[in-house]
Amino acid sequence: MQIEWLEVVTNKEVAHNIFELTLKGKMVSNMNRSGQFLHIKMKDPSLVLRRPISIASIDDETCTLLYRVVGKGTLEMTEWQPGDLVDTLGPLGNGFHLDFLKREEEVCIIGGGIGVAPLYELGKEVHARGNKITFILGFANADDIYYLEEFKQLGAVIVCTDDGSAGLKGHVGVALDQVNPTAVFACGPTPLLQLVQSHFSHLEHVYLSLEERMACGIGACYGCDTKDKKKRVCSDGPVFQKDEVMV
Ligand SMILES: Cc1cc2nc3c(=O)[nH]c(=O)nc-3n(C[C@H](O)[C@H](O)[C@H](O)COP(=O)(O)OP(=O)(O)OC[C@H]3O[C@@H](n4cnc5c(N)ncnc54)[C@H](O)[C@@H]3O)c2cc1C
Ligand code: FES
Repeated sequence: MQIEWLEVVTNKEVAHNIFELTLKGKMVSNMNRSGQFLHIKMKDPSLVLRRPISIASIDDETCTLLYRVVGKGTLEMTEWQPGDLVDTLGPLGNGFHLDFLKREEEVCIIGGGIGVAPLYELGKEVHARGNKITFILGFANADDIYYLEEFKQLGAVIVCTDDGSAGLKGHVGVALDQVNPTAVFACGPTPLLQLVQSHFSHLEHVYLSLEERMACGIGACYGCDTKDKKKRVCSDGPVFQKDEVMV
C-alpha cells in the first residue's frame, strides 16, 4: 500500500452516468489481484474523506476505474482531464483469491449496478486460468449497461434489467437457476449478496465483495465494520467467503 499521485490518462462516460477513468503510475505494478480498491482524495478541500473506488482493470502501465456519479466527489471526478494528478492511496483490501480454482471448475460471476466494475478484472483473471465463466449482470435499464462487449470476450453473459429494457426482466435472481457452478463470486447491493449467499448455500466457494462507507480505508478507524461488528470491510475485506460474514 502506498500514496502516489497517479496521472489521468483518459476519463470518459461509457454509459448513463457511468465513467471510465484510466490512471497511470508506479502503483500499478503493485496491483496484482482483482477486487482491491483505491482510496482517492478529491481536489475540493471540503471533501475531506477519500472515496473508495474498485480497480476494474489492471493493464501493463495503467489501471482503469469505473465510477457512477452519485454525489459531490464522483461529480468532481468527471472534471478530471488527461495529465491531471490524483492523490491515491492503494491498492487496498484483500481482493479475490483464486488459488483454490481448478481448471475444470465452472465459475459464475454475479454483479449488480456499479458492483459489476471490479468483476471485469476478476473475469480476466479467471479467463486466463482457462475456467468456463457465466456472468450474470444486473442493471436498472438498458442505458445503464456498461462493458457488455468486454465481458462477452471472457465468457457467457446473462443480462438482467429491472425494467426489462434489455435481457431478462428482473434482478439477477431470475437467472440463478440457469447456472450450476462450483465457484461463485459476487459484488453489488446488499439484497443481491443476500440472494447469492442463500441460493448457493450448498457451495463452499462463494465469495462476496461488500460495500461499506469508509473513512481511513486501512483498518485504523473501525468506521466500516461488518453488520456483526466482527470484521472491517476495508482491511479484512472487501471480499469475504460467504460463511465468514453476515451480509
Ligand atoms: C470497497 C468499495 C469499492 C467501491 N467501488 C466503487 C466503484 O468501483 N465505482 C463506484 O462508482 N463506486 C464504488 N464505490 C462506492 C463509492 O465509494 C461511492 O459511490 C463514492 O464514495 C460516493 O462519493 P460521492 O462524494 O460522489 O458521494 P456522497 O454521497 O456525497 O459521499 C459522501 C460520503 O459518503 C461516502 N459514500 C457515499 N456512497 C458510498 C458508497 N456506496 N460506498 C461507500 N461510501 C460511500 C463517500 O465516500 C463520502 O465519504 C465503492 C465503495 C467501496 C466501499
Ligand atoms: S474505514 Fe477505517 S477501519 Fe475501515
